[in-house]
Amino acid sequence: MDINRELIEKEMSRPILHLVGEVADALHRECYVVGGFVRDIILQKPSDDLDFVTVGSGIEVAQAVAAKLGKGKATLAVFKTYGTAQVKTKGWELEFVGARKESYQRNSRNPIVEDGSLHDDQCRRDFTINAMAISVNKDNYGTLLDPFDGLGDIERQLIRTPLDPDITFSDDPLRMLRAIRFATRLGFNIYPDTMEAIQRNAERIHIITRERIAEELMKIMRTDHPSRGFMLLSECGLLQHIFPELAALQGVETMNGRSHKDNFLHTMQVLDNVAAESDNEWLRWATLLHDIGKPACKRWDDKTGWTFHNHNFVGAKMIPRIFSKMRFPLNEHMKYVKKLVELHMRPIALVEDIVTDSAVRRLLFDAGDDIDDLMLLCNADITSKNEAKVKRFRDNYQLVKQKLIDIEEKDKLRNFQPPVRGEEIMELFGLPPSRPVGEIKDAIKDAILDGEIKNEREEAYQYMLKKAKELGYTPVK
Ligand code: CTP
Repeated sequence: MDINRELIEKEMSRPILHLVGEVADALHRECYVVGGFVRDIILQKPSDDLDFVTVGSGIEVAQAVAAKLGKGKATLAVFKTYGTAQVKTKGWELEFVGARKESYQRNSRNPIVEDGSLHDDQCRRDFTINAMAISVNKDNYGTLLDPFDGLGDIERQLIRTPLDPDITFSDDPLRMLRAIRFATRLGFNIYPDTMEAIQRNAERIHIITRERIAEELMKIMRTDHPSRGFMLLSECGLLQHIFPELAALQGVETMNGRSHKDNFLHTMQVLDNVAAESDNEWLRWATLLHDIGKPACKRWDDKTGWTFHNHNFVGAKMIPRIFSKMRFPLNEHMKYVKKLVELHMRPIALVEDIVTDSAVRRLLFDAGDDIDDLMLLCNADITSKNEAKVKRFRDNYQLVKQKLIDIEEKDKLRNFQPPVRGEEIMELFGLPPSRPVGEIKDAIKDAILDGEIKNEREEAYQYMLKKAKELGYTPVK
């Protein structure tokens, strides 16, 4: 027996699939499991999402399935506007939809017409690998219906639309992004015809909501090689429509024979380096955005050549706007990304200078708990072609890393809490909340960071008394 047959037989032996088949038979309905579940059987990545297509109303089958599973064993949700219904039962999510002649669109506002055959429905799906169906009716249980050779495309590792791609993409332009997401996740290529259609239709992505676009970008970001997705987005022209700030990093300019590096390609390399080390999606976003300020800061200087002064600060300032455009939450994740973008040069600056304890303390203070992520990003950012330079940077980087460990052990600055509180200063000197209180507090912090005093209560208290005296304040009690 061929391997695919064997894989299908194994997965189709699950009782839940038999149960759906029995219910459909009782209602005299053709019923098939379709889409991602079938694709993932062949890819040997079993999923627990089951999409069923029925000829006639899917909602009725869903209701009967929920009833058969029994109260307390399943929950049913019906989405009349979309003509779909969902049944949740232990470990499984089942989604039912009636076969359609019209395009399959989850979020369509158009009326749903359930008047199609299985074949009509398969035609209107996004890709050949997602258009395979397996029957659950008793008569032909387990039979694979694969009219567009999805199996062959899995073997050839191809993303291809079942119909003329211009039709498939105009039905739902989000599918252009889905093509890139699947290609990235599965390591597949996009079939040339399909790719050309994306290039032709790229502009139509604007009719899709930012939320749905961002969701796809997030899924690309979570893959093993997110850079591949962003490279594809650039190649097909979608990037400039959905992420112009990132597209602006592309390209190289030359003056007097001197060129700067292509900041987009550099970013892709750094993203690969980080993704190989960390699954933290927000660290990956920070990496993608670490040089986002560069285009705005690019200058030519006759003496030093191309410069990008302050691009970290300009980049950090751009983050809230980019996040709100992406409809990402403006919460602690945004603050984290902003902080990493702003600080991404700091460890490298230490590497270039003589590494003083004071500079390391300040870095620890500013980065707080995110210091390890910052160091990871910083290490990943060393991508020069000059091997000697890379070696020098990496050696120095190790030195900074060791110093960070030593100083953190000694001074505990990672989550700095002022050893003397503002209220205490106010009370002691009879001061209202005012500038001098902040000045005294800052002086204590600076003294700790400069290594003048230890990060501990008694030394800080004595230092506070000294500083206050210098400023002309005496304790009132
Ligand atoms: N589909 C489609 N066009 C879309 C969205 C979905 O044709 N814009 C179809 C595809 O046949 C897809 C199925 O609906 O396989 C289910 O969609 P979805 O749950 O979004 O994706 P899966 O293929 O299941 O993949 P995954 O859940 O792994 O993202």
